[in-house]
Parts: sequence; structure tokens; C-alpha cells
Amino acid sequence: MQRHLLIISTTVGLFAGAASTSALADTSPLEQQLKDLASFQVIAHRGASGHAPESTMAAYELAHEWDVDYLELDAQITADGEVVVFHDDTIERTSNGEGAITDYTLEELKALDTGTWFNEANPGSADPTFVGAKILTLDEVLERFGHDARYYIETKSPHLNPGLEEALVAILEEHDMIDSGHVLVQSFEQESLQKMHQLNENVPLIQLVWYYPSEEDDSRLVEWTGVTPGPADIADEDFQAVAEYAVGIGSNFIYEGQEVIDADFIRQANENDLQVHVYTINETDEMKRLMDMGVNGLFTNYPDRLLELVE
Ligand code: G3P
Ligand code: CA
Repeated sequence: MQRHLLIISTTVGLFAGAASTSALADTSPLEQQLKDLASFQVIAHRGASGHAPESTMAAYELAHEWDVDYLELDAQITADGEVVVFHDDTIERTSNGEGAITDYTLEELKALDTGTWFNEANPGSADPTFVGAKILTLDEVLERFGHDARYYIETKSPHLNPGLEEALVAILEEHDMIDSGHVLVQSFEQESLQKMHQLNENVPLIQLVWYYPSEEDDSRLVEWTGVTPGPADIADEDFQAVAEYAVGIGSNFIYEGQEVIDADFIRQANENDLQVHVYTINETDEMKRLMDMGVNGLFTNYPDRLLELVE
């Protein structure tokens, strides 16, 4: 879907050029997906996870009902090789189990309750229907929403999830999600993205980055994975190196109260053919600020707040 900013943006040129949803006859679904990325994207982070337990069907149902552009989810692999939707490396924060998620079979994970923790942590949003929510397989999410949604899938902790990329591509191909233009794959690990590209060159990729102050000199920012220099030192060549395999960058915005990227970063990335999506923005003021800076999309646990700012 296409949306236009309600607030005044200093980078209206980018949005004024946004593609129409009416694809030309000779535009492939994949090309249409890339054109759609030129307009502002609302990305529901782990579903509408501010309102319902993250990564559960309740959170994805709500986000889908609100007609977001992408459902964001983290993919991991179980001890018996099933791809599940789960963020943390360990299960204790969001379930009644404990230990590494990759140590459990799907059957064991399905016995867990991933909803009660949310009710206890968020009494104002608690709902008895969340109790007993099950960990989802990727298959279950894709079967539920099919081609009526787009999916922004992270290969989470690839070093802890060997075989994840192969299993992920097989599932996406089985559901015809790639050539139909319904999926982006994101990762902090460049190697994981390159593996995805080798497995299926049509998967559009997003390089995640995380900027934070250097331990040696906290006045300078560095990037966690080493994929790019810090924003103050980043050059066109650095963006172009990412643009060789990715269509965008997913960045943090604030580290311990300090803004780590600015409008120049977004502009320079755009000039080098990279969209910039920022995670995870939950406050309306910050959403507005980033939109004024020209950001191309936001990950949020509160897509309802973000949707109020776009039409
Ligand atoms: O995928 C974007 C953002 O979700 C990355 O951070 O830790 O929430 O997966 P995380
Ligand atoms: Ca994620």
C-alpha cells in the first residue's frame, strides 16, 4: 500500500516520487515491491507487540488488521530443524520455560505459554485470551496471512542457528513469497545475508546496523558488526558496498540518549540507493522527528501510533 506523510517532510522529493500501487503491466511483483519501498513503510515490530504478546498470532492479527506494510518477525531454528518465530536466544523472558531456544524441539516449544508474561508485565493491556499463546512456526504465520501481507524476516543470531538460511529459503519458496514480492530478509550478520543471496538471488535484503559509542573514545560512534564505519566517517563507498547486496539499511536511532544517525545519514544512504528503516520507535514525537529527517520506514511496537501520522 502507498501512504503519504501528513506531517511536512524536509525530503518531500523522495515521497513525491513514490510509485502508484497500480502496477504497470510490465512491472513484475518483485519490481513493484521495490517501488513500494520508495514510500514510507510501517513495520510492525514482532507484530503489534505493544498491545499483545510479541511474536504471537494475537500480535500479528492486530497488526494485519491495521493494514501495516510489513509484519516483522525473527526467525530461529529448533533442535529438530523447524523454523520458529522468536526473538531472544533464550526462552525465559517471554515464556514459562528456560534455556536456549535451539535446544528444544518444536513439540517441546509448543507446550510453552508465551502470553502470560505479557499480562503480568502490562496489566493495562492484559487480556485473558493471551494466556497460553503458543510459539509460532514461520509456516503458521505464512499460512494465516498468505499474500495478504508482506513479511520483514530477520535471520536472528545466525551463529546460533546453523541451517537457518537454507530452511528459510525453502519455506519462502514453498509459499511463493519471494518472486511474488512479499518478503524482505534482514540481518545484522552480513554473511547470513550473503548466504540468502546465494540461495535465492531475488530475496531483497536489509543490512541491520547498530551504532554506539566506541569504548576507546566515547565521542565517536562505531558499528557493532563492522559492516560500516561510524556515521561521522561513513562515505559513499561504504554505502555502495552495502548497496551491492542490500536494498536498505535498518539502523538504531538512539543509544543511551544520544542520537546516532541524522538527516545527512539518511540522505546519503538514499543517494546511494539504500532505503533507511529505523528500529524500534514507539513514541510519537520520535516518529515525527525521524519522518521529518526523511526516514523511509519505521519499526514500531505501536503501529497504531505510526499509522496516525501517515495516510
Ligand atoms: O529487526 C529490526 C530490529 O528488530 C532489530 O532488533 O533486537 O528487535 O530484533 P531486534
Ligand atoms: Ca528483529
